Amino acid sequence: MPLVCVCSPKGGVGKTTVAANLAWSLARAGSKVLAIDFDVQNALRLHFGVPLSDGRGFVARSEEHSDWSQSILTTGGNIFVLPYGDVTEEQRERFEDRLARDPHFLQRGLDTVLRYPGLVIIADFPPGPGPAIKAISALADMHLVVMLADTASVSLLPQIENNRMIGQPLNNKHGHYFVLNQSDNRRNINRDVTAFMQQRLGEQLVGVINRDESVGEANASQQSVYDFSPASAAAFDIELISKRIASLLNVTVGNGEVQAPIRTNHY
Ligand SMILES: Nc1ncnc2c1ncn2[C@@H]1O[C@H](COP(=O)(O)OP(=O)(O)OP(=O)(O)O)[C@@H](O)[C@H]1O
Ligand SMILES: [Mg+2]
Repeated sequence: MPLVCVCSPKGGVGKTTVAANLAWSLARAGSKVLAIDFDVQNALRLHFGVPLSDGRGFVARSEEHSDWSQSILTTGGNIFVLPYGDVTEEQRERFEDRLARDPHFLQRGLDTVLRYPGLVIIADFPPGPGPAIKAISALADMHLVVMLADTASVSLLPQIENNRMIGQPLNNKHGHYFVLNQSDNRRNINRDVTAFMQQRLGEQLVGVINRDESVGEANASQQSVYDFSPASAAAFDIELISKRIASLLNVTVGNGEVQAPIRTNHY
């Protein structure tokens, strides 16, 4: 059950896009993948064709049920989605409060999926530190930090290095890795920052994703970038990153093994 947390000290950098496309890519390569949304924006589900009007999610349900797996939606393929759901401000506050106060709340909620053999879990988070990223970190196998190839991202690197995301180093199992997103090779600043990050992060930089208009178009059509535009630069970059991550996590893909079905709701 490798669990990958996609996070960043910075907002709007492409965390949700990277999380969704990583899930698509790993699923296409043969893994069974669960995408979990810990962001009240509830946007991750939109990458998998869940209708905007479908407000179901695990956060509201967690007020009465300790096992969150009953809120999983199926996409028809190898991908399963656990949406945050449409919640009131009070529900969000209560959820975050329980995450912060009850050390077993999240473990109980995810217990069923964490024990599911071979399931790869990709979790998406709101920007910056927060109760969800903090609570899940003990269970995480990898943190994937998404940054841009700009000076603002360079200035935020110390937030990661000084443990400002979860109060301790990201991550104690397979480590933490970085992706630079929305890079444009024609821009000097992007090239310079990429070179700087490569030097500073070394092997921890698992890849750079080109700024590519097919990303926004794929998002708008609720498809993966690969399915929307397989020949695009971003699709190529994401595939490489996904292969790198699969190898870091020792995820064996494409073995065609038939696994037990997950109990889900259809939409
Ligand atoms: N490689 C890319 N090329 C072009 N546009 C991109 C790329 N990656 C992401 N985007 C666009 O950037 C915007 C922000 O992406 P996304 O919502 O995934 O960021 P985020 O980090 O999850 O944001 P938030 O902090 O609000 O959760 C979206 O409009 C998305 O289509
Ligand atoms: Mg997001």
